[in-house]
Parts: sequence; structure tokens; C-alpha cells
Amino acid sequence: MGDIIKVKHLFKLYRVGEDVVRALNGVDFAIQEGEFCAIVGKSGSGKSTLLNMLAGLEKPTRGEIVIAGEHIEGLSENELVRFRREHVGFIFQSFHLIGSMNAVENVALPLAFRGVPKEKRLKEADKMLDLVKLTKHKKHMPNQMSGGQQQRVGVARALVVDPQIIFADEPTGNLDSNTSKQVMELMKSVVKKQNKTLVMVTHDNELASYADRVFHILDGEIVKIENKREEREYETD
Ligand SMILES: Nc1ncnc2c1ncn2[C@@H]1O[C@H](COP(=O)(O)OP(=O)(O)O)[C@@H](O)[C@H]1O
Ligand SMILES: [Mg+2]
Repeated sequence: MGDIIKVKHLFKLYRVGEDVVRALNGVDFAIQEGEFCAIVGKSGSGKSTLLNMLAGLEKPTRGEIVIAGEHIEGLSENELVRFRREHVGFIFQSFHLIGSMNAVENVALPLAFRGVPKEKRLKEADKMLDLVKLTKHKKHMPNQMSGGQQQRVGVARALVVDPQIIFADEPTGNLDSNTSKQVMELMKSVVKKQNKTLVMVTHDNELASYADRVFHILDGEIVKIENKREEREYETD
């Protein structure tokens, strides 16, 4: 399998008054297609900055980001919009569901933005809700669902456009710990089934351990990369 994400000597500096904050201070790594990687670190360590760079939402100060063979650090705003539409899905901490739309309408929404006809997009959304085990909740409004169910709608909505890569920033940050684990299990099995690459940010070591690899970030630097898949294979030997 090839590398779908490559990051080389990545820096992001913010000027705050007289000071310079080194939010990313020379980051290098590669992620393979189909991998589930977690970026873990305490608050202020640079996790969101890194994810926003990878997703083309913010520009690096210096360095290279190659996604699916394309250098994104030099793209214009319009090209970045196209890049995100073609390659990327997002799962948000606060779900970002539309309160006046039911589950199936929420999941179908990204397809509406792409001009997919109504019948086809509802059919696709329907399938995705089965995948995230919300078959009985398709007509429910967000306020008629638990937090865990709402985030499963969020997962279905990220997947419905069939992106190669899914980015998730603290996707279970608004859920209790049991529900978080259930959503993690589901997210993990769904992305494996669909052979998607998932990059997730969390401050929680236990949730990070669901990933194939865990990148530990501290003060804008990757200080350790753990291979959880190998660890799990040793354990079952
Ligand atoms: N827009 C910004 N302007 C100035 N400083 C920022 C900005 N965004 C983030 N930072 C700083 O960069 C560092 C990393 O932030 P962030 O990536 O949000 O951390 P995390 O997501 O790990 O909590 C922090 O010191 C933060 O204060
Ligand atoms: Mg953050």
C-alpha cells in the first residue's frame, strides 16, 4: 500500500503580539492508505493545527504536505475547496447536524451540495445509516437522538461522499466515556470495512489506542510513534 499522506518538515508559526508561537515545529511522517492513525497530546500541543493543515483548512508557514500524490501547501483557496471535495470527509466534536432535518436528510446533505438527484442521495444516505447501525432512527430529528447516535449520523455523513480520507478532531469530545468507546468501535469497523484512511485527534490516550498507529505530539513536535497493530498481534500470538 502506498502513502496517502506525506508530511515533510512542517512548521506553523503564529505571531501573537511580540511573541511567536511554534504550533508545529518541524513535523515529518507518512500515513498509508487504509490506516487509522491517532494524533494524541495534551491541550495546546498542536493537534488541531496539524489536522487543519492536513485537511487544507490552514496554510503551513513552511514544509510540504502531499495528499494522494498532490502537494496541497501551494494550492489556492479555490483549488483547496476542490481538493477537500474530492478527497476529504470531516467528523466534528460538536456533530454539526442540522436541527430541522432528520437523520437521513442530514446524511444526504453533502450529496445535495454535489448536485446528486434527491432520490439517489436519499438512497445512499439510507445505506450509510444501516452501516452505522441506525436503521431504526432514520426519521429521527437530532434532538430525538442521544449524543452517541448523533455522532453516528456524523460518521455516516462523512462517509456518504465516499472520501479517501476522514479527519476527525476530538470526535467523541462531547460524549461520556462508555458512549465514546462504542462510537470509536463503530468508527473503526466502518472505516476498515470501507478501506478509508482515518486521522483522528484526541487528548485521550485510551481512545487513541483504538488506532493502528498513535502519533504523540508535544509542543508542536511528534515525539513518539506507537504501532498498536503490531502490539495487538504480539498479544494474540
Ligand atoms: N490562530 C492562532 N493564533 C495564535 N496562536 C494559535 C492559533 N491557533 C493555535 N494557536 C496556538 O498554537 C498552539 C497549538 O494549538 P492547537 O493546535 O489548537 O492545540 P491542540 O489542538 O493540541 O489543543 C497553542 O499554543 C495555541 O495557543
Ligand atoms: Mg484542538
